Amino acid sequence: MGRTLRCRASLKGIILSNPSPSLRREASLVSTLRTLWPFFWPQDRPDLQRTIAVSLALILVAKGFTILMPFTFKWATDALVLATGGKMEAGAVWPWLVGAPILASALYGLTRILMVVFTQVREGLFAKVAMNAVRRLALRTFTHMHRLSLRFHLERKTGGLTRVLERGRNGIEELTRMTLMTLIPTIVEFSLVILVFALEFDWRYVVIVCVMIVIYLAFTVRATVWRMEIRRAMNDSDTDANAKAVDSLLNFETVKYFGAEARETARYDRSLATYEKASIKTYTSLAFLNTGQAVIFTIALAVCMAIAAVDVMAGKKSVGHFVMVNALMIQLYQPLNFMGMVYREIKQAIVDIEKMFDVLEREAEVEDAPTARPLEVSDGHIRFEDVHFHYVPERAILKGVTFDVPPGQTVAIVGPSGAGKSTLSRLLFRFYDVIGGRILIDGQDIREVTQGSLRAAIGIVPQDTVLFNDTILYNIGYGKDGADEHRIAEAATMAQIDPLIRQLPDGYNSQVGERGLKLSGGEKQRVAIARTILKGPPILVLDEATSALDSYTEKEIQDALERMSRGRSTLVIAHRLSTVVNADRIIVLDKGIIAESGTHEQLLASGGIYAGMWNKQREADLARETLKRAESGEEPSLRQKLEV
Ligand SMILES: Nc1ncnc2c1ncn2[C@@H]1O[C@H](COP(=O)(O)OP(=O)(O)OP(=O)(O)O)[C@@H](O)[C@H]1O
Ligand SMILES: [Mg+2]
Repeated sequence: MGRTLRCRASLKGIILSNPSPSLRREASLVSTLRTLWPFFWPQDRPDLQRTIAVSLALILVAKGFTILMPFTFKWATDALVLATGGKMEAGAVWPWLVGAPILASALYGLTRILMVVFTQVREGLFAKVAMNAVRRLALRTFTHMHRLSLRFHLERKTGGLTRVLERGRNGIEELTRMTLMTLIPTIVEFSLVILVFALEFDWRYVVIVCVMIVIYLAFTVRATVWRMEIRRAMNDSDTDANAKAVDSLLNFETVKYFGAEARETARYDRSLATYEKASIKTYTSLAFLNTGQAVIFTIALAVCMAIAAVDVMAGKKSVGHFVMVNALMIQLYQPLNFMGMVYREIKQAIVDIEKMFDVLEREAEVEDAPTARPLEVSDGHIRFEDVHFHYVPERAILKGVTFDVPPGQTVAIVGPSGAGKSTLSRLLFRFYDVIGGRILIDGQDIREVTQGSLRAAIGIVPQDTVLFNDTILYNIGYGKDGADEHRIAEAATMAQIDPLIRQLPDGYNSQVGERGLKLSGGEKQRVAIARTILKGPPILVLDEATSALDSYTEKEIQDALERMSRGRSTLVIAHRLSTVVNADRIIVLDKGIIAESGTHEQLLASGGIYAGMWNKQREADLARETLKRAESGEEPSLRQKLEV
C-alpha cells in the first residue's frame, strides 16, 4: 500500500505543479482497482486471501452450472422429440423413453438451484473480504484525517470530511460489488457462452453473438452517459424547486407583508416546470435506452434462431439445438441489461473513492522528524526565540517574539484582540510550525521531538471549549485515558463544578449535548479546567480560561487555577488584566512584537500601553460596579442625585 500511495502522491505532485488544472488525470477503473488491490489482497491475512481464491473459483463453478442449464433444456427437448417421435397424437409415446425427458427436466431444475446456491455462497464469502477492505481503508483515512494539520481542517466545510469518508466507504463497497460480483462473472459468462457456441454450434453464431455484445455495450455506455447528464439536470431542478419552496415558507411573514403570494406561487411553478420537463426527459430517455437494447438483442436472437432453424431442417442439428440457442441467448439478456447500471455505479464509485484518496494523499503539514525523540521534561523551561509566524504570507502575525517561561513560573500574555496570543499557544502545541526562530522546551526544539510526547506534556484550557456529545464524566475523563470516577470527581471539585453536576438529575452521567451546547459557557470552561487538572501536565496554557465566568465564580476558579499552576510552567493569556496581576511576568503583545514586559507594578510605573489598558479597565469596572449598586438600591441613582 505504502508504495502505491507514494507513487500516486508523486504523480499528484507532478499534476499539482502543473499550471493547468484540466490536466488532472482521469482515474480509470483499472487504476482505481490497482490502488485498492492491496486492501483486497492483504499480505498479512492469508485467510482472506484464501477466501478470495475460493470465491473466484466459485464464480467459475456457478457460471459452469449456468451454462449447463441450456444443455439440460436441449437434452429434455431432444429426449421428448425422441419419445414422441415428433408427433402430437396421444399414444405415440414410446413408454421406455418416458424417463429421459423427465430426468433431463429434473437436471434442469437441479442446475438452476446449484447455480443460485453457488452464487449466493460466493457473495457471502466475498462480503467478508470486501467489508474488511472497507474497514481498513476507512480507518486509514480517518487516522490520516487526524494527522492532517489544523489548517486543512479549518479550510473544510463542517461535515465535508465525514461525507468524503462515508461516500468513499460506500464507493468501495459498490465498486467491489459491481466489479467482482457482477462485471467479472458476466465476462466469464460471456466467454463461456461464446465457447459453447463455438463447440456446440459454429463460427456464424460466435460472430453474431460477439457483434451483438459489442454493439449492445457501446450503445448502452453512450446512452448511459447521455442519461447521466439528464438525471443530473433533473436532480438539480428538483433541489432548486425544493429550495424555492423552503425559502418561500421560511419567509412566510415577508411574503404576507408584501402581498406576494401570487409572485411566490409563480416562482415555485417555474421551478416545478423545469423539473417536470427534466423528469419527462429522464423517462423518455430510459424508454429509448430500453428499446434500443431490446432491438439490438432481439435482432441477434432472431438471426441465431433462424440459422438454427435452417440447420435443423437441413438435418444438421436437432430440435434441441434450436431450443438451446434460445435458452443460451436469453440467459445473456439479464446481465447485459445490468451493464448500464454497472457502468454508472462504477463511474460514481471511482469518483467517490478518488475523493477519499485525495485526502489520503494530502501530506500532513506538521510531521514528526525521522529522528524525533520523545520530549524529556526536566523542569519545564519554555523559550520562544525570535519566533516569526504567519497564517498567510500577506499578513505577518508574529514578527520576532522572544521570551522565556522559567521553570514553575507564570507568564501572562496580554494585548489587543487579534494580536496573536492564541497563536502562541497553537505554535507551542505545534499545530503549525514557526516560519522563523524556534520554540524550546528544556532546551529541546519542539520540531525535533515527537508530537505525541510534546502534547502529552502540555495542558490547555482553550479559549472556546468544545465538548464531545457524551456525558460529563466522559468529557472530564477525556483528560486522562482510563481515569476512574473518583479521580474525575476530584478534578471536578477542584474546578468548582462538582456541586453543580450533583444537582443535575443524571449527575455525572448527564449528556452535554452536541458540542456541549447544553452547558453554559462558564460550565463548559470549568469542564475544560477539570480535564486539564486530571491530565496534570508539567506545562500549562490558560487561554482566557475564565473569560466566560461571572466575577464571583472567576475569583473562586482563579484560586483553583493558581493552585494548579503552582510548580508548573504556565502561560496565561488574558483579556481581563485583574486576573494576571499576580503573574511573575507580564508580556504585552502588540502588532506582532513584544511591546512591553515586566511585573504588574513595573508596567504600571512605566506608564505605557499596559498602564493605559489597566486604567481603562479599572474605569470600566468601577462604572459597572456603581451601576450595579445603583440598581440594587445601595447607592442613589443618577436621577436621585440630580433631583437632590
Ligand atoms: N487559521 C487562520 N488562518 C488565517 N488567519 C488566522 C487563523 N487563525 C487566526 N488568524 C488570524 O491571526 C490573528 C491572531 O489570531 P489569534 O487567535 O492568535 O488572536 P488573539 O490574540 O488570541 O485574539 P483574541 O484576544 O481575540 O483571542 C487574528 O487576526 C486572526 O484573524
Ligand atoms: Mg485568542
